[in-house]
Amino acid sequence: MIHVDVLWTAREAEQHPFRPGEAAAVFDVLRATTTMAAALAAGAPGVVAVADPQRALSLRSTLHPAPLLGGEERMIRLPGFDLGNSPLEYTPERVRDRTVVLCTTNGTRAVAAALRRGCRQLFAGSLVNRTATARGLLRCLQPDPARHPRQPAANRQGTPASQQADGGPAITLICAGTHGRFSLDDVIGAGSVVEALQALVQEEEPEPQDTLQLSDAARAALQLWQQARHELADVLVGTHHGRLLVETGFAEDIEFACRVDAFDFAVQWQPHALALDTGAFVATHFPGN
Ligand code: MLT
Repeated sequence: MIHVDVLWTAREAEQHPFRPGEAAAVFDVLRATTTMAAALAAGAPGVVAVADPQRALSLRSTLHPAPLLGGEERMIRLPGFDLGNSPLEYTPERVRDRTVVLCTTNGTRAVAAALRRGCRQLFAGSLVNRTATARGLLRCLQPDPARHPRQPAANRQGTPASQQADGGPAITLICAGTHGRFSLDDVIGAGSVVEALQALVQEEEPEPQDTLQLSDAARAALQLWQQARHELADVLVGTHHGRLLVETGFAEDIEFACRVDAFDFAVQWQPHALALDTGAFVATHFPGN
């Protein structure tokens, strides 16, 4: 049984005791994790996510070849940076063969919080690659749950949910949130991955509830996604952050963020020889993508 949980904000991730073997994904649908996927799709070999602009600036001189710096404060490109945080800026002409160091207000800080807490099987999830993200999360768990979904009946009975969460395989979906508060766009992204996890498990297991144990937060995220999916752009435009993006001239970024499953790769964190403390996110294709 795989326990699936959703953390509403990065603050929860700061308290979360990540265990070896636990797989996690950070969501900042508007816009950081969507932008990371866009950068990798456009040919950047890796994205280093940092929490602090000074750290980004120092990586410009220590990484070779020199990376591009991307990021925002209040949605606007940081001073001295090459790119902002709009996925539309990350074109092949700008980023092909260039590592990107990204620093944003909430998204890359949520990544840094998860890494600080010891998470090592980490993805950057978004709507644009939600199925590949779900596939990647499942592949991280051993044994492969899609191939070995059923435990003997004796093992399935009488195990309290809390024990499962503490001891069994777990997938944790981390919503970056906005300044420590709930952000609907991130929760919708997490819910879309909960649904994709169910669909992938169901390909091999007719009763996904025998394989995936959803927390109440995961159920709520799933319901919010299922309510929003048929009017996704309208729902995202109506969120607090969506309204701010429209006011600041970034309405097209919301359309981009709504392209569900536009990319067939997951954005997976890997230790990076030149940025050991942060590592880098790379595009990873899992069989079946
Ligand atoms: C963030 O990390 O807070 C966001 O990605 C902000 C933005 O839309 O640029």
